[in-house]
Amino acid sequence: MKTISSLFVLFFFFALGYAKNYKFNVVSILGENSFIGVKYGNVITPLTPQPFPLFSGLINADKIEEYKYVELNSLGNVVGEESLTRTYSDENSKINEVYNRSNKNIKLPELPKPFQQMFPMGSKKYQPLPNVIYNVYAKCDEAAYKNLSSQPFLNGTKQQNDNLAICQFTIISPENVFQTTGSIHVIGYGSRLYKKLSWTMKFDKKFLGRKAIKMRAMANDPSLIREKFASELYKSAGIPVQECTYARFFINGDNYGLYTMLDSLNRKWIKNYIHGNSKADIGFAYKLDSAHPEGPFADFKYIDENYLSYRKRHTYKIDEYEEDKLNPMEESKQYYHLVQFIKLYRNWVVNYGNDFSDKAVIELEKFFNIESMLRVLAVESLTLATDNFFMVMSNSDLYYNPEKKYYQILPFDFDRMLCGPFDNVMFDPVGYMDDCITWVNYDESHFDHYFTNNLLKHPQIKNRYDVILAKISRYTFDKNVVARYIHAVADFIREDVQWNFELNDKLTISYNGIHNHFTVNDFENNLVNRNLELSTFTKNNITQIDLMQFIEMRGDRCRAYTSSIDLSKNKNHSFDIDLTDDVLKSSGVSSITKRSFMLLFTFTSVLLFFMI
Ligand SMILES: *[C@@H]1O[C@H](CO)[C@@H](O)[C@H](O)[C@H]1NC(C)=O
Ligand SMILES: *[C@@H]1O[C@H](CO)[C@@H](O)[C@H](O)[C@H]1NC(C)=O
Ligand SMILES: *[C@@H]1O[C@H](CO)[C@@H](O)[C@H](O)[C@H]1NC(C)=O
Ligand SMILES: *[C@@H]1O[C@H](CO)[C@@H](O)[C@H](O)[C@H]1NC(C)=O
Ligand SMILES: *[C@@H]1O[C@H](CO)[C@@H](O)[C@H](O)[C@H]1NC(C)=O
Repeated sequence: MKTISSLFVLFFFFALGYAKNYKFNVVSILGENSFIGVKYGNVITPLTPQPFPLFSGLINADKIEEYKYVELNSLGNVVGEESLTRTYSDENSKINEVYNRSNKNIKLPELPKPFQQMFPMGSKKYQPLPNVIYNVYAKCDEAAYKNLSSQPFLNGTKQQNDNLAICQFTIISPENVFQTTGSIHVIGYGSRLYKKLSWTMKFDKKFLGRKAIKMRAMANDPSLIREKFASELYKSAGIPVQECTYARFFINGDNYGLYTMLDSLNRKWIKNYIHGNSKADIGFAYKLDSAHPEGPFADFKYIDENYLSYRKRHTYKIDEYEEDKLNPMEESKQYYHLVQFIKLYRNWVVNYGNDFSDKAVIELEKFFNIESMLRVLAVESLTLATDNFFMVMSNSDLYYNPEKKYYQILPFDFDRMLCGPFDNVMFDPVGYMDDCITWVNYDESHFDHYFTNNLLKHPQIKNRYDVILAKISRYTFDKNVVARYIHAVADFIREDVQWNFELNDKLTISYNGIHNHFTVNDFENNLVNRNLELSTFTKNNITQIDLMQFIEMRGDRCRAYTSSIDLSKNKNHSFDIDLTDDVLKSSGVSSITKRSFMLLFTFTSVLLFFMI
């Protein structure tokens, strides 16, 4: 009886058109001092920033079906309106929507993984950053921020401005609002040449387990996808890298546009990605930094026993170690493992450089992870990495892994790959695209590649490199697989592309850095293979081939170079996973089906076993 009467009451209310509460949450991407309202029918209601830039409001109304967000001025008048029309739903009312952006739930396809994992690549407390576009507002000390944004190099010199600005950060995703105090500083040398600067944010409170996040500007990438795809490619080859997601970035009154947001290669990342444990003790990581083409290079050549001889070259820098467990004054101990490695390698070259028996490989494996090195070299060959390990021994860390008691190479910074020589004059100006192994050796007058040449001289090692390259180029770097991935990323960021380029054109910081006036057209051209002559991609001595044309051409060349390799006969059971051409039809999907099939199979076998 009671339910019937309350149903009746409910019906009565509905019949009378009793009002309901409608909830709105929207992030402003219009920058500091913007105001947002919601418009339904002819009604416009201002929303409240709580906290800025997240505008919220509860509106009591009879019925709201369609609505739009509008931009208001400080008097509450409408000065702009988003292009899309939204339909109210309980689901949408629970997330933080974004002004003039549709709500996205795009799942990026997984690239095929042809190798066993060698490293944990994260832990429970430290997962890869989720696939959302964050909104990052930094409210920084104005004088300190101006100092950085007007002079990323000090006083017009080549000296980097390493100052900090203290900030309050608000980071908003569809599901969360995160706020903390912290600081920002400008990062990179090459990336500092651009007006759209790259930054590191340091946090006082933890953001998804992190105390620091890099914001990379992609200032020379019209596709805005190269770094994202590159980190995915390394990862699919089982190489631990800093993975990235996207963010819209604002500092004080400056709207910087779309960035990639990623981890830095720091202690936390090493603990979790290499050791799989947020409490692990790390070893020693040395940053390799070469100045090409003049040098000096981080060539790993033996000088003498004195750590200062290496330190003073400025090509090796102690990067990460357990600082609280070592007296910072004991510099020689910080550099101990670097000098050790250089010595060990020198001795190996002296003793086994011309010994092509298996013993040479076994001896090297005692202190160096060859497999992980070769995977790095293969990926760098496929992507023609102009500023990384294989070509110039840069943008990498040499890491002494205390758990495995060996050394390994950890790559970072993927903004100079997947485009051809860019500005690197050590490339063969004509033949670079066709060569998938000696492309680094064209100009050895500047840099003789002592380290990799000695490595690849050994037939077992070179063969393994070829096998790795064959597997990645046949499966992961397959043009359809990559196209599917890249188009999914493009769909994910497309609404932000024009906005980003327009903001970059309008950026009013006083630093007169390099600025590429990219357009949406450049973005779209990068997503297809227009089959242009390679020479058309060279402008002002910089060669940057469209992304999809590069991927198709380079993939074809490296598949040709490795075409004679029979993968079934060249298998290393500790490292290889057999893939079939199924993975090419729908990357990601079939590997999951295969796994669940295996699971089902195991389950059925166990069941059968018990039944018998
Ligand atoms: C920025 O700060 C440095 C000192 O750290 C100073 O030398 C430089 O002149 C400042 N630049 C500007 C533009 O204020
Ligand atoms: C900045 O550069 C000018 C001219 O090059 C020089 O006179 C001045 O001393 C420099 N200031 C600093 C702080 O280095
Ligand atoms: C909204 O975004 C579209 C592109 O997705 C753009 O063309 C339009 O100008 C934007 N409108 C406003 C008001 O920002
Ligand atoms: C290209 O490089 C050549 C040789 O280094 C140089 O002479 C020329 O001025 C450069 N051109 C441009 C547009 O930078
Ligand atoms: C696989 O690689 C490991 C490490 O390099 C090596 O010790 C082993 O001999 C290889 N196995 C085969 C079958 O090649």
